[in-house]
This record gives sequence, structure tokens and C-alpha cells, in this order.
Amino acid sequence: MHEGVSIMSDKPGLQEPAGSPPIGAPDRNLALELARVTEAAAMGAARWIGRGNKEAADRAAVDAMRLMLDTVAMDGVVVIGEGEKDEAPMLYNGEQVGNGQPPQVDVAVDPLEGTRLTARGMPNAIAVVAVAERGTMFFPGAAVYMDKIAAGPVIADVIDIEAPPAENVRRAAKAKGVDPEDVAVVVLDRDRHEGLISDLREVGAKVFLITDGDVAPSIAAAQEGTGVDLLMGVGGTPEGVISAAALKCLGGGMQGKLWPRNDQERQALLDTGYDVDKVLTTDELVAGQDVFVSATGVTSGALLRGVRYTEGGAVTESIVMRSRSGTVRRVEAQHAFEKLMKFSKIEYR
Ligand code: FBP
Repeated sequence: MHEGVSIMSDKPGLQEPAGSPPIGAPDRNLALELARVTEAAAMGAARWIGRGNKEAADRAAVDAMRLMLDTVAMDGVVVIGEGEKDEAPMLYNGEQVGNGQPPQVDVAVDPLEGTRLTARGMPNAIAVVAVAERGTMFFPGAAVYMDKIAAGPVIADVIDIEAPPAENVRRAAKAKGVDPEDVAVVVLDRDRHEGLISDLREVGAKVFLITDGDVAPSIAAAQEGTGVDLLMGVGGTPEGVISAAALKCLGGGMQGKLWPRNDQERQALLDTGYDVDKVLTTDELVAGQDVFVSATGVTSGALLRGVRYTEGGAVTESIVMRSRSGTVRRVEAQHAFEKLMKFSKIEYR
């Protein structure tokens, strides 16, 4: 792991001396620049909503995100990219992004989280990006899947991924001061979750099954008023790292355990130094202390409204956050395509 790099103003006299607290004027909040990145990706993907072509939707999001990422004043390396599951040619792990100026950062991207959701016109697809100091994000390597449990600040401290699901629901209910019947758990609708779903139902929890997209509900668990308390079950490892970055900003928590699909995958992970029995905490998934996340809705869901078209443009909703300051913003943006097209290489339409 590299040494963390503080994300400070690059003005002379405002540099942070090693090991001391920040001084001087507030430094840049990269999350605000990242909002433009996820907005562009969301608008790229949104033209493909409901058109049955997930590859085209993903490509449009990737193209727009990549162009916009290079305008961000950072020296970024993609640590979580378009993984092997998507076989996408761009925004691959190790790719340099940003305009090359300091700070040096790790970048996790999911230009379209919910490709099938978008293609099928279903809720909860988002475009998301996370940034943290260089060397501080967990590198998933060959670990395609991870068992996860994600919760907001009230519940995060009492859950334990190694405890039975019913026990976690009881603890969550107690922490919230409600009955287990009032605990809402989001689970990916997969055969591998048959046991989990029946255990959750048996204890009385409300189980919300989703066909795809476990990042949005992980973030929603840490946002008041979304109706989501927990995200549980096995999903993508990259999505787990991105969710951990967001929960670090929002004050919630994430626990994960790598989930090899077979002996061969388990052995490959062991051979490359991964401990498949270890419980990974939020801080182990994203160790940075200055983490930025932006997510923009593609299709509407519990967390964000999707892209809505207006005469000559579109309206987007994003949530942007920074761990160090704890500031969480919701940004509604109105985009005027004709004006944007006069100076942008992105094909807004
Ligand atoms: P996409 O890559 O098609 O956007 O799907 C994302 C996703 O649903 C994640 O949210 C989830 O973690 C993962 O895929 C689940 O994987 P699988 O569909 O193989 O169970």
C-alpha cells in the first residue's frame, strides 16, 4: 500500500505539513467536480433507458464519464474499473485519469451501476465515482463477488456479518427502537440468497428483492427517509468498495467477506495473498481519510431521481459527499444541450 496523500490546496503557504492538521483556507472539494462526471455518465446512459441494450447504455456512460474525468484536477489511477464481468474496453484498472495535477488519488468508477436496470427501464440505476488518497482503496483482484452487509449510522455498530441474518435484524431493530417487522432489508434476487431470504422473512423483516444494483440501496441505508435499513447478501466486490467509500462519507458501515464461486477461484485468491475468511471493514475497504463520492440517478429510485428530459436539455439529481468534512449535498442540475455542445466533446442529446 502507498502512503496516503492529503488532498490540500496547492497554493504556496497552504500546504499541510506532514502529520499536522489542515491549515489555512478550505481546500478543494473534489466531490463537486465529480458531480459533473457522474451527471455526464448518467445523461449518456439515460438515452438508452428501456431500449433493451445494456451494452450500449454502458458504453455511452463510460464514454461520457471518461471524457469528463479527464477535466478533473487530479492525478488519478483507476483501482476499481469496468471489471471482467462487464468486459468493457475503457476505464480499466490501472488507467490514468484526471488532468495529471496533484492530488494523487485512487479512483473507483461504475459509470453505469445497473446496466440491465437501465436497459429494462427499471428503478435504481446510477452513475457513481469514488476518489480517495492514492493507495488507500482495496484492490479486488480476482475477487468478483463479496458477501456484504451495509447499514446506516444508527445500525452500523451493532451488525456482524458473521452472525446469523435473524440476529442482525434483531440487533438492527433494537438499535432503531423498532420491531424486527419494521426492519427493511434489500437483497439481490438470486438463487444463492434463498436461505438468506427465508431466514430474514422468518424473523419478520421486510425483504425488498432487487434484480440488480446493490450500490444505491447500500447508500440509501445511510440516508434518512429512504425506507432502507440494511443491504445484505452477495454482490460484486467492486460495488462493495464503492459502497464502502460512500458509507465512510455518510457515517454508516459496511462489512464484507470475499465470496469465491468455486475451489479454483478460492485457490487463485489464496495464491495472490487474499484471506478469504477475513471480515473486511469499511476502513479496510477504503482506508483513506479524505474520500469523495458522487452518484447521479439514471433511473429513479429510493436514493435519487433519474434523468428527466426538458425542452433542449435534461435535469439530473446527484448526491455528492466528502468523508473529511462530512458534507453531503444533493445537487439538482439543469443542462442545456445546445450550449454544452458548443464546447464539449460529449454528445449531449
Ligand atoms: P451491472 O454490472 O449489470 O450494472 O450489474 C451490477 C450488479 O447488479 C451489482 O449491483 C451487483 O453487485 C452485481 O451486479 C451482482 O452480480 P450478479 O448479477 O452476477 O449476481
